[in-house]
Amino acid sequence: MDRTGSDAGLPPNTLAVEAPAKLNLCLRVLGRRDDGYHDLQTVVAPLSLADRLRVHAFADPGTFRTLSLSLDVTGEPALTRGVPLDETNLVIRAAAAMAEETGIRGFAEFGLDKRVPAAAGLGGGSSDAAAALGALNRLWGIDLPAGDLIRMGAAVGSDVPALLARRPVLAEGRGEAVTPIRLARLDWVVVTFAFGVSTAQAFGWWDEDGGPTGAEPTGLLDAAAGGEPEAIGPLLQNDLEGPVTARHPAVRDALDLLGAAGCAGVVMCGSGPSVAGLLPAGGIGCDAAEEGELERLSGRGPVRVSSPAG
Ligand code: C5P
Repeated sequence: MDRTGSDAGLPPNTLAVEAPAKLNLCLRVLGRRDDGYHDLQTVVAPLSLADRLRVHAFADPGTFRTLSLSLDVTGEPALTRGVPLDETNLVIRAAAAMAEETGIRGFAEFGLDKRVPAAAGLGGGSSDAAAALGALNRLWGIDLPAGDLIRMGAAVGSDVPALLARRPVLAEGRGEAVTPIRLARLDWVVVTFAFGVSTAQAFGWWDEDGGPTGAEPTGLLDAAAGGEPEAIGPLLQNDLEGPVTARHPAVRDALDLLGAAGCAGVVMCGSGPSVAGLLPAGGIGCDAAEEGELERLSGRGPVRVSSPAG
């Protein structure tokens, strides 16, 4: 839930917002484009696991002649390691892109509390950027329409438009064409790994392997609206899963363990290496012993999360 300066005892011109992780119920890669990106059809759902972003910002062309941006990152060392603090961080890139396009002069100070692992396929950095755009749109008093935010977000990263929606969506093109979908609330077990996979690397492996391209998500979209985990589970699909598991067998092992633990379906998250198991109705499945096995395999305890209804 987002908190504003006025309703949460925060200083003036300050917002505290959540930046939810995501998973892809389906990630269908259609093919490589001339610009090096890949055309996709992907069903993206935000998760209850989220980074926290605090934004203190103000803009006034009469007062400020320059733009000043700063970022402080906190969190467990395992989560903050490798998160850039400079202008390459997607939060700063998003703020700079917005200021550039709107001619804003003023400042923005970001405090980012990391809870979502980086390079995990969970969209953490992209969601931070989406949250920054939403907060600055209010604090800088720009009030851009959603379409402009999506365009700016797409320039920062292909996952940003889907995460700006803050609800389940079908994303197409390179990720910028976003359509809201109906999805019931679902419960998941997510397994993360100590190593990361870069998005460019995963798509490069898909090119190297010559595919695959899975089925159209029509059946999944129907099942998603119905909300039965047992109907949705078998339709979960990710075309990057084969290329990534071929190079990282532990990811395949985690998917198999989740399946054996009674999940209604399993799928790799985005470009990996995180994997998710969809829990059957009632949230049962994956007992303590099975969680222990997953922890021994991945080096990290699995986390239970939900994707809210939308
Ligand atoms: O858009 P973003 O910067 O997140 O993408 C990182 C990399 O992932 C791109 O440079 C590209 O190699 C790959 N990618 C892709 N097709 C997409 C999204 C990302 O090939 N639709």
